[in-house]
This record gives sequence, C-alpha cells and structure tokens, in this order.
Amino acid sequence: MPRYAVETPRARYVVIVERGALASLAAHVPATAGKLFVVTTADVWRLHGEVVEKALAGRPRQVLFFPGGEERKRLSEVEALAGQMLRAGGDRSSVVIAFGGGITNDLGGFLAAIFMRGIPVIQAPTTLLAQVDAGVGGKTGVNLAEGKNLLGAFHQPLAVVIDPDVLATLPGREYRAGLFEVLKCGVIRSPELFELMERRPAEVLAREPSVVDALIAESVRIKAEVVSADEREGDLRRILNFGHTVGHALEAETAYARFLHGEAVAFGMRAATHLARLAGLLTEEQERRIAAAIAAYGPIPPLDGIAAEALAARLQGDKKTVQGKVHFVLPERIGAVRVMSGLDQAMVLEAIRGALR
Ligand code: GLY
Repeated sequence: MPRYAVETPRARYVVIVERGALASLAAHVPATAGKLFVVTTADVWRLHGEVVEKALAGRPRQVLFFPGGEERKRLSEVEALAGQMLRAGGDRSSVVIAFGGGITNDLGGFLAAIFMRGIPVIQAPTTLLAQVDAGVGGKTGVNLAEGKNLLGAFHQPLAVVIDPDVLATLPGREYRAGLFEVLKCGVIRSPELFELMERRPAEVLAREPSVVDALIAESVRIKAEVVSADEREGDLRRILNFGHTVGHALEAETAYARFLHGEAVAFGMRAATHLARLAGLLTEEQERRIAAAIAAYGPIPPLDGIAAEALAARLQGDKKTVQGKVHFVLPERIGAVRVMSGLDQAMVLEAIRGALR
C-alpha cells in the first residue's frame, strides 16, 4: 500500500493511496475526538456516502452539505457551515472530514483552520484533481470576487485518505481536468510521469486501474516531497504553480463558471510553455511535446470572447504577484522548471495570445 509522509515544521502525516482505503477512515480519527463533521456535497454523498457512513459507524457525527462549485467557495459558505457545527454541538474536540473534490477540500480545510481558532481535518479527496493536488499539502481557502484563494490558511491535515475506487463514478470532463494536474507534476519534476502520460493516453483515458494508481502515486510522491521541503511556498513549492498564474486569471475572468480548475491550468501551462520558448528557456521540440501532451487530454472548453489583454491585466491581482512583479513558473525542459519574474510585458501578452489561438 503506497504511503507517503509529509513532514513540515509543525505537522507529520501520511497520505494513503489505496483502493478501498475509505473503509478504514476511522483509523485516522483520534480516539479522543468529539463530534465528527463530514463536509461534502450532495452528489458525492449520494455516490459514496454509504462507505463513509459504515466506516464511521459508532462515532458521533454529522454530515454537512455545501452546494459545491468554485463560485460557491466563499467565506459566506464557511460561516454558514460553522454555524451549523455550533448548533450541532461542535467544539474544540471536533474533527472535520473534508470528503469531496478540491473545492470541498479547500473549503472544509479552511473551515477546520478557523473554527474555534483551529480544529483537526482529515482530507478524503474524491476527484482525481483533489487526489493528486488539492487534498495534499495543507493549503486551504476560499475565493474573493477579485481572485482565487485570496483568503486562506495553511492547515495540514491529520491524514489524507485517497481511494482511487471512487474515480469510477467521476464524470469524464472532471477526470480529464485532473489529468492536467498530473501532467503538471510530470513537467515540473518527473520525466517518467510525463512519458507515461505521453505514451499511454488510451490506457490513461480508459482509467486502466494500474495506470491510474501509478499516476496518483507518483503525483502524490512529488507533492509530499515538495511540501515537506517548503510548506509555506517560500521557494520550492512555487513550482507547483506551473500553469496556475495564467490559469487563475482565466478562472477569475470567466467568474469561475466556464472552466474547471484543471482546464484553466491546462490553458495556463500552454501559455507558460509558450512563454518559456519565447524567453529562450525551452527548445521548440520540448514545447511541441508539452503542447501535444496537453492536447491529448483535451479539449478544454472554447476560449472565444476572452481577450489576452484582460488576462494579462488579471495577473496583477494574483497571489503570486509580489510588489507588482508577476511570477511565472517556466519549463526549462520536461522534468525541470524555473521561477521567473520581471518578464517583458509584450512577451507575456504574446504568450497568452499564442495559448488563445
Ligand atoms: N496547488 C499548489 C500547491 O498546493 O502548492
């Protein structure tokens, strides 16, 4: 059973990747825990709630529903859930179990981070995107109208329980959106992972279990290693933002309603890869391979009506923009990236235009 340790200055926990792992969810709940609050959405609960109910049988618990959707990942939803927790007897001994996709992991984790100044959370991600990225690493938060994840906290979980079996019910579009985050891991740190996705798209898209398990395990291994080295994104963790600078701009520009997060990251990776080429960092052959791999898991929804200038303007509001300097994660070759700022505005605009074409 693959288990990956995340070790930060304040926390040490395991990420379990195993088919059927949800059945053992209770093993990660401290014996002294009070009421458990499962934060989830109605669709996830309908599909997979029974296994969690069985796993937590005998423990005091309450299921809290949140409407889901990036546009609902807002502070008002956190406040509503916190109120429900209080009315249901939640206190400092309570534990949140964030059971759902990346939006649920972010929002449930943030709820735990601030409820009575912080209670533990167990992350149980149910989409591919959440299993390989959002559920691991302790970033939690909600969106502002002005931009994504602009309110949040680092709050490491007690454990992350990844059960690839739940992916069987994941809609195709959501699955492909998660694959873009896997591809990201390959480009930033693992030529082997990239090549697996490059060479075996049919098996990847058919969700062949051994291939899916390998994709998740390698992505989690990379994420655990990066977060352990740099929890607070002072340095190495910034590489996980490959594709996210322009990707976040696209999500904000379209009010979080038109693209799934992974699709926006795919677009952002296309822009960053083109920018790396324009900046002379990346060869034409490597750009072609990255662009082809992104295309193999697409298409993303149509980009019509989106102006490059509007996306470029949005970059200023990104968390990664410090003192007016936009930071980009640019590939130097497949498996290695570099963080750069101070790039020529005209070049950035040209890269975004290239990704829009
Ligand atoms: N999703 C990027 C990170 O966790 O740092």
